[in-house]
Amino acid sequence: MSVVTLKIDNVDVAIEAGSTILQAAREAGIKIPTLCYLEGVSPVGACRLCLVEIKGSDRLHASCVTPVSEGMEVFTQTEKLKEYRKMLVELLFAEGNHICAFCVSNGNCELQDVAIEVGMDHTRFNYRFPERDVDLSHPLFGIDHNRCILCTRCVRVCAEIEGAHVWNVAFRGAAAKIISGLNQPWGEVSSCTSCGKCVEACPTGSIFRKGVTTAEMKKHPDYIEFLHTAREEHQWTR
Ligand code: FES
Repeated sequence: MSVVTLKIDNVDVAIEAGSTILQAAREAGIKIPTLCYLEGVSPVGACRLCLVEIKGSDRLHASCVTPVSEGMEVFTQTEKLKEYRKMLVELLFAEGNHICAFCVSNGNCELQDVAIEVGMDHTRFNYRFPERDVDLSHPLFGIDHNRCILCTRCVRVCAEIEGAHVWNVAFRGAAAKIISGLNQPWGEVSSCTSCGKCVEACPTGSIFRKGVTTAEMKKHPDYIEFLHTAREEHQWTR
């Protein structure tokens, strides 16, 4: 195993070559906000919340998909980054219909947590108020597209951990949306095993268990990492 040394916020960090900046920061106890990143599935760099500055580079880098390199100097908390992160969260809130007071995940929502973390208490952008549907065709679960932030955690967990490939992203730009099957109602997708991993992976109240009401939906995204690690280490097949 070769080791790479770098500086993150002026802290010396040594980590296995091939690791990402986000992994190195977490190893060093340095918190970088994330939304699309989920331990246990592959990173995609979709939300851009984990942006960092690297000395010598004039652009920002998504730390969840940028590998470390020897001698790298990374900054995670500059004024520029703080302003960009805040704006990103404002845009997410303006783009969907995130009315926390009526959400099943109120108080248990990663988007809400991140908004508090970056100091966002209002959005400077015009709300788009898109007309989006709620699919309640599945007997156990529902998906409210109004609360979806297109992080694709459900898509990746279903494909990479469950192997069912129920979810995907369809359409482009502002019309992009998560679909089940061939853009069918979720309850009609025969490949769905009703495992509920997408429910645990979803960072907002978008995918939920039926029967929960405002603020009742608690999620366990660390369950995905647990499954991934157990599989990697053959814990159940020794
Ligand atoms: Fe890195 Fe979303 S967490 S881009």
